[in-house]
Amino acid sequence: MQSISVTTNAATDKTETPGREDSKDQGQRPPTPDPSDGIELLRPTAADGAAVHALVAQCPPLDTNSMYCNLLQCSHFAGTSVAARMNGQLVGFVSGYLVPERTDTLFVWQVAVSESARGHGLATRMLSHLLDRLECQGVNWLETSITASNRGSWGLFEGLAAKRGTDISKSELFDRKDHFNDEHDTEHLVRIGPFRNSAP
Ligand SMILES: CC(C)(COP(=O)(O)OP(=O)(O)OC[C@H]1O[C@@H](n2cnc3c(N)ncnc32)[C@H](O)[C@@H]1OP(=O)(O)O)[C@@H](O)C(=O)NCCC(=O)NCCS
Repeated sequence: MQSISVTTNAATDKTETPGREDSKDQGQRPPTPDPSDGIELLRPTAADGAAVHALVAQCPPLDTNSMYCNLLQCSHFAGTSVAARMNGQLVGFVSGYLVPERTDTLFVWQVAVSESARGHGLATRMLSHLLDRLECQGVNWLETSITASNRGSWGLFEGLAAKRGTDISKSELFDRKDHFNDEHDTEHLVRIGPFRNSAP
C-alpha cells in the first residue's frame, strides 16, 4: 500500500491512505501516478490570483470572474478559500465566504479542480479542509448553488453530505428568467447540514 501525503495548514487534517495497491508482478505496467500525491492545501494569497483566474477558465461550466474578483477571493476571503498546489502548480481552488448575516453558514462560491487531478477526492478534501479551518469553527451549514445539468457538482455535494452524515436540501436561488435575464441557467440553492454532532 502506498501512502499519499497531503500537506495542509488546517490543524485537523491528517495524512491519508487511498487504498491503492502497487502492482506486485514484475513486468506489469507500473501504476499510474496518483495526481493527489503531495498536494498541499493552503490559504491562498494574492500571488495566486492570476493562477486561479486561469484554472477557473479551464473548468467549464464555471463562469469566469474578473481577475480582480479572484484577487479579492485570494486576499479578503483567503480564510474561507483554499488553494491546492502540486509541485508548485495550482491544481484546485475553492472560493467561499461566511454569509454576512448568517455567519454559521459557509457559502461555497466555486470549486475548480484541474482535469488532471480529478477523480481522486481532491474537491471533497478541499471542502473538508475548509470546514475544519479555525475561521469555520462556528459553521453549522454549507450552502452553494448548482445548475441542474452540473452532474459533477451534484455528485460532489451529495457525497459530502453523505460523508458528514447530514442532510442536503434544494430550493431555487436565482431563476433563469427572473434573475438572469434568460442568459444563464437557473441556479439551485443547495443547503447541507447541520454539521454539529456529525462525523468529521
Ligand atoms: C466537479 C469537480 C470539482 C469534482 O472534482 P473532483 O476532485 O474530481 O471531485 P471528487 O473526487 O472529490 O468527487 C466527489 C464526488 O463527486 C462525484 N463526481 C465527481 N465528478 C463527477 C461527475 N462528473 N459526474 C458525477 N459524479 C461526479 C464523485 O464520484 C464523488 O462521489 P462520492 O463522494 O460518492 O465518491 C471537478 O470535476 C471540476 O472542477 N469540474 C468543473 C468545474 C465544476 O463544475 N465545479 C463545480 C461547480 S462549483
